[in-house]
Formats: sequence, structure tokens, C-alpha cells
Amino acid sequence: MIRAKIIGTGHFLPARVMTNDDWAKRVDTSDEWIVTRTGIRERHIASDSEATSDLVCEASKQALDAAQVDKNSLDLIIVGTISGDTAYPSTANWVQKKMGIKPIPSFDIGAACSGFLYGLILANSFIKTGVAKRILVAGAEIMTKIINWEDRNTCVLFGDGAGAVVLEATEGDTGIISTCWGADGNLGELLYQPAGGSAIPASIESVQKRLHTVHMKGNEVFKHAVLRMQEAAVEAIRLAGITSDDISLYIPHQANIRIIEATIKRAKIPIEKTYINIDKIANISSATIPIALDQAFRENRIKPGDNVLLSSFGAGFTWAGVVVRF
Ligand SMILES: CC(C)(COP(=O)(O)OP(=O)(O)OC[C@H]1O[C@@H](n2cnc3c(N)ncnc32)[C@H](O)[C@@H]1OP(=O)(O)O)[C@@H](O)C(=O)NCCC(=O)NCCS
Repeated sequence: MIRAKIIGTGHFLPARVMTNDDWAKRVDTSDEWIVTRTGIRERHIASDSEATSDLVCEASKQALDAAQVDKNSLDLIIVGTISGDTAYPSTANWVQKKMGIKPIPSFDIGAACSGFLYGLILANSFIKTGVAKRILVAGAEIMTKIINWEDRNTCVLFGDGAGAVVLEATEGDTGIISTCWGADGNLGELLYQPAGGSAIPASIESVQKRLHTVHMKGNEVFKHAVLRMQEAAVEAIRLAGITSDDISLYIPHQANIRIIEATIKRAKIPIEKTYINIDKIANISSATIPIALDQAFRENRIKPGDNVLLSSFGAGFTWAGVVVRF
């Protein structure tokens, strides 16, 4: 059976680090509140001159190096992002230009924190059906350019960064062995950016009301996140024909340590087998999973034969689960 195999990973985090104490100097918050409620201690912040595609380029170069393949051997680029360089062209198009990659299909996926896993699932389908043989999938965000820096309910939660993987067709028993995904648009207004699209185009009023930034009903989102992250994890394990005992490492989307703890309790995955980096990078939406995947590789936490579980939840609402055998 043909399936997609991950042959290289990479990630990039902007140089500037902002701690909880740095936030406490700008809004009415504290290190103690942020750590207790979210598990976040610090996050990376992009500079004024960095665009999301710049972060993708850095992560992608690492992934291509790790895979030991040439950029012009790719036949598709997919970028998960909700904070792309421009409304259009897509960030994937800018990446293609900046990396000097020959004309191949390239596009973005707007599935918020599930953007990377949606990209992985699509790439797997394209590889299975022969549409493409070697695909670059990235998740990348500059969330700090779309948050309201005066809203303590949201500003402390997010950070910037990018992660990327190179996927290739394989006929072995490694690679993506199960996938599941879902979405419920009825709950979209619990977490969204109201303005900037056709519903509320940019105007002086929309800017003054800060409608171009993240709006979230945090405690409502929390309940759905726990349920869907856990469902996606359990379903991906079931579809892989294995049990939670067979999972060597679980890489959850990193939105809140309490969401991760509740999810692993219900999915019966021990904390020792769960990759956690939210303390260092906060929530980077579509980038959290590919960044953690690359970090786990470079820390030797993934070995040949390991089953690695990935699951996500984000605005939309969207959710997804994937099991990859290395
Ligand atoms: C956002 C989140 C951390 C808030 O934690 P919470 O325990 O639900 O807290 P609440 O929203 O109920 O707020 C509790 C109080 O803390 C206050 N508060 C909010 N942010 C604060 C901050 N940064 N510092 C200090 N106090 C803060 C609120 O104003 C509220 O005060 P009040 O009771 O006087 O009104 C949590 O709901 C969460 O993580 N939600 C999911 C986020 C998520 O997953 N988003 C992305 C999906 S990918």
C-alpha cells in the first residue's frame, strides 16, 4: 500500500523572547496567573521585518536538509496558516518565490490550529492517489501581529514560529497509518478574527474597534477543545488498529497545559509519553505540532518503529488526529 512517509523535519523560532513578566509590564496580568491557567512561561516574537513566509523558509530549509533532498524535487507546497503574509497570494506562493522553487502547485490551508494536520492529511491523500510524490507541508504563524496587545484575555496566550516536514511516497509499513478530521462551523464565533474579510472589510471603524485581531470566549473554547482533542486522539488510535499502549509519543496541539492534561487522562496516555513545549513557545496555532515534532526528533525522542500520535483543535472549530509510524 502506498502512503506518505515523513523524511525530514525542521522548525524556526524568531530570536526575540518575551516572558510573562514582560507582558505584566504592558497589561494587568502576572507570571503566576499565566503559568497556573495556561502553563505558558515565554514565547518568541517576530520582528517588524519578518513575515510568516520568512519563518516557513527557514523551517523548510532545515526539513529539506534533514531529508537530504533538493528543493526542486518537490512537487507540491502546502502551508497551514491564519496569519499569512498577505490576503493573497498565499503564503505558500511567497515561500516558493523566496526559496527559488520552480513553478509547482502551492497553496495555504486556513484551518487555524488544525492547519498543519489538515495539510498532512491532504498530502497523504495526494500521495496515495499519485497526484504528488514529494510534498512540503508547513505550519506557520505570526500570531503576535493579529492579537490585540491590550486584551489580557488573549494577548498572553500566543507566540510566533514555523515547523515543516517533507513527505514522500513509500510502500513500506512506515508513514501515516491513520487520519481523522472534523469541523463544526456552528461554533465559529467563539474564536475568530471578525474583520478583514468580505463580512467586515477594513475601515477606520473596524481598525478602531480592533476587529482585525483574535476574539475568543476562552472558557467556552476550553470545553470543546478538551472533548475534540481527546476524540481525535482516540479515533486516530482506533483507525490505526492499535491501542494507546502502542503509542510511543503523543504530540498534542499546545494551547493550554490543562487542555493537554485533560486530554491525555481521557485518552489514557501517560504524561511521560506526551511532548510538552507550551512553557517555552506558547500557542503558535498551526505551527505548534510541526515545531514539537522536529524538536522531538532532534532530542532523540522518536526512534524507528515508534508510533507517534498527533492531535489538534482550533478555530472553526476544526480538529484532527494522525498516527505516524517512523
Ligand atoms: C483563556 C484561558 C487560559 C482562560 O482561563 P480560564 O480559567 O478559562 O479563565 P476565564 O476566562 O474564566 O477568566 C477568569 C478570570 O481571569 C481573568 N483573566 C483573563 N486573562 C487574564 C490574564 N492574562 N491575567 C490575569 N487575569 C486574567 C478574566 O478577566 C477573569 O476575571 P473575572 O473572573 O474577574 O471576570 C482558558 O480559557 C483557555 O485556555 N481556553 C482555551 C484557549 C484555546 O484553546 N484557544 C485556542 C484554541 S487552539
